[in-house]
Amino acid sequence: MTVGLRETHDSALLHVTGQARYVDDIPAPAGCLHLAFGLSDIAHGRLLSLDLSDVRAAPGVVDVMAAGDLLRPADCSPSVHDEPLLCDGTIHYLGQPLFLVIATSHLAARRAAKLARAEVEAAPPLLTIDEALAADSRFEDGPRTWTKGDVSAALASAPRRLRGVLEMGGQEHFYLEGQAALALPGEGQMEVHSSTQHPSEIQHKVADALGLHMNDVRVVMRRMGGGFGGKESQGNALAIACAVAAERTGRACRMRYDRDDDMVITGKRHDFRIDYEVGFDDEGHLLAIDVTQYARCGWSQDLSLAVCDRAMLHADNAYLIPHMRITSHRLRTHTQSATAFRGFGGPQGMLGMERIIDHVAQELGRDPVEVRRLNFYAPAGTQAGQTTPYGMEVTDFPLHEMTDALLASSDYEARRAAIRDWNAGSPILKRGLAYAPVKFGISFTLTHLNQAGALVNVYRDGSILLNHGGTEMGQGLHRKVTQVAASRLGVPLSRVRISATDTTKVPNTSATAASSGADLNGMATQAACDTIRDRMAQRLAGLHQTTPDRVEFADGMVTVGGQELTWDAAVEACYLGRVSLSATGYYATPDLEWDRRRGQGRPFFYFSYGCAVTEVVLDTLTGENRILRADILHDCGSSLNPALDIGQIEGGYVQGAGWLTTEELVWDDKGRLRTHAPSTYKIPAVSDRPAVFNVRLWDAPNPSATIYRSKAVGEPPFMLGISVFLALGDACAACGPHFPDLQAPATPERVLQAVHRARGG
Ligand code: MTE
Ligand code: MOS
Repeated sequence: MTVGLRETHDSALLHVTGQARYVDDIPAPAGCLHLAFGLSDIAHGRLLSLDLSDVRAAPGVVDVMAAGDLLRPADCSPSVHDEPLLCDGTIHYLGQPLFLVIATSHLAARRAAKLARAEVEAAPPLLTIDEALAADSRFEDGPRTWTKGDVSAALASAPRRLRGVLEMGGQEHFYLEGQAALALPGEGQMEVHSSTQHPSEIQHKVADALGLHMNDVRVVMRRMGGGFGGKESQGNALAIACAVAAERTGRACRMRYDRDDDMVITGKRHDFRIDYEVGFDDEGHLLAIDVTQYARCGWSQDLSLAVCDRAMLHADNAYLIPHMRITSHRLRTHTQSATAFRGFGGPQGMLGMERIIDHVAQELGRDPVEVRRLNFYAPAGTQAGQTTPYGMEVTDFPLHEMTDALLASSDYEARRAAIRDWNAGSPILKRGLAYAPVKFGISFTLTHLNQAGALVNVYRDGSILLNHGGTEMGQGLHRKVTQVAASRLGVPLSRVRISATDTTKVPNTSATAASSGADLNGMATQAACDTIRDRMAQRLAGLHQTTPDRVEFADGMVTVGGQELTWDAAVEACYLGRVSLSATGYYATPDLEWDRRRGQGRPFFYFSYGCAVTEVVLDTLTGENRILRADILHDCGSSLNPALDIGQIEGGYVQGAGWLTTEELVWDDKGRLRTHAPSTYKIPAVSDRPAVFNVRLWDAPNPSATIYRSKAVGEPPFMLGISVFLALGDACAACGPHFPDLQAPATPERVLQAVHRARGG
């Protein structure tokens, strides 16, 4: 059985030899046209008139379209029809597409896009959380609040109380492959190749924009060069633009954003401010927490409500808080529309909780690890009825044992003491050490999205073609799902080819998101394979005078009542016996029930867990810092593929560390994003990987009935990066007696401010 083996990524060889084909590598048909958007250079106001004569006259330009040239209103929103493809009069952010250039080359289109003369009437933009709050500019009519227990009374009677504020920045996805699309017009139909995590959404939005039905639009996606949530909805505009231009010109049209445009146009992770008040006792038991989350959502709703819900759902992280109130403000600003990003609000919610614990620990002079363990949910089976603030029972909680194991393997106690001594003798360089746990809920909180389909074809020669609704973005989903198919049919991996994700093969798919790709599509694929296998067993049993339960499929052989046949011979026999060798499979996650308005129910099928210990060193003169060592223990259930899972854990951790350290988004007072290229926006480099990086899997089957008892791994390890931020806070705390109150991202400037505060400045 290939499930559980360390098989390489199915495209590994293509990736490293540069042969892997991305959307923009697909050879263009003759006469293919290229598109570029002309962008707004103010953040808020009215578009009074648009003089496009110079654009139209520029070399290579075939056509130019403004909103009025569209045959139908084209909308790009994944949620509420509030994102016109091209500005319809109101300007919402700096970088908003105003018009579309159609030209004979990518460069010609981009050059021409700069030649428009827009007459605008500028209005003051709302850029910050405070400005949006003052103007009461928000999505939904007011803040959302979920409450467990009696928070005010519990706070009032708590022996100790603390308040604090933590600001955390957003994050650019920085997928290495930028947004791209290609539309090929047909006979009243449209075929679209899109770098998207959500082909069915592209199909739906393109059909709407063209006045077609979904069966007239085909969307194909072979692979993305990274998505990270940034291709759940942010690819819609390019795909719709290509389709609309292809309809107008009758020619193939393609579009890709230049990196700067990509950063200026598309949404990013939501930045948050979190205000907290916590009541606790002298030992560090958390008695009550009142936490308020302010999210900067940008100009359109996009996925913000779900992101903010997930931030609320992770405000407890791994801790049982008897009384907790969580309030969430979803603020509308004149900036890019913030969107999905690995963790989908979870990281922001969790970081708030972890900050509260560090604050309490420093106040009590206790090691933060002790305070964390003191407040953990109880271990499995020891405390029936313990629930999260949203009323979901926590039945399996392995973090006690996982933490014991990790603290031992990372030598936490001894290093804590050694670092204390080292810091005492080191006035300029300071080291810090921190432990952080993760408990992350798995399932889409929009319950109906938890479904998936697959289509498996077995050909006469025994080769197998597998389709499922998930998309490949580097995470290794296709490899995991082929491992499932090969294991069910008892064939070597090499017999199974996985095709591009294609809306004509599997309809009505959900985005590959919420880390649920393998959970959902693995199950659907298993169902399809089992159908074919059972049909074959039926036929072969009949041929050999035995019963179907005596037919076994393993190692490329089929054993029928003691006789061995090759898989290929068995397939041929079934074909000649007129057995259907093609089947669909379908899966819907059971046991989900969630009322998002009340904040009550069971939004998740299960939780994924992990923990990390990180050591950092910082220079108190410059604020520069680096990660010296990271130890991680992560729960993937019974791993479908330990090699891919460790890759996800390492990548997630480093990306999380980037969010909280070097990656800083800066907008000026006009709403212009100043960090719109790799020269000013710093993602972690290879050299920023911890020098010592020990990653191990917590190998315990998922108590919930998932595919081969595995657990989702895509997003949860991102939040292990929180340990880097906490370790930097610990190093700052070594500089003086006061709480350093480090803010995120911990750029050298913010580190220096925190050092200053620790010293009492
Ligand atoms: N890993 C790579 N290499 N590239 C990506 O774009 N996206 C992450 C995660 N890991 C991503 C990745 C995000 S945001 C999600 S939701 C999951 O992968 C999606 O894939 P899965 O559901 O198959 O885990
Ligand atoms: Mo991931 S943020 O759910 O695409």
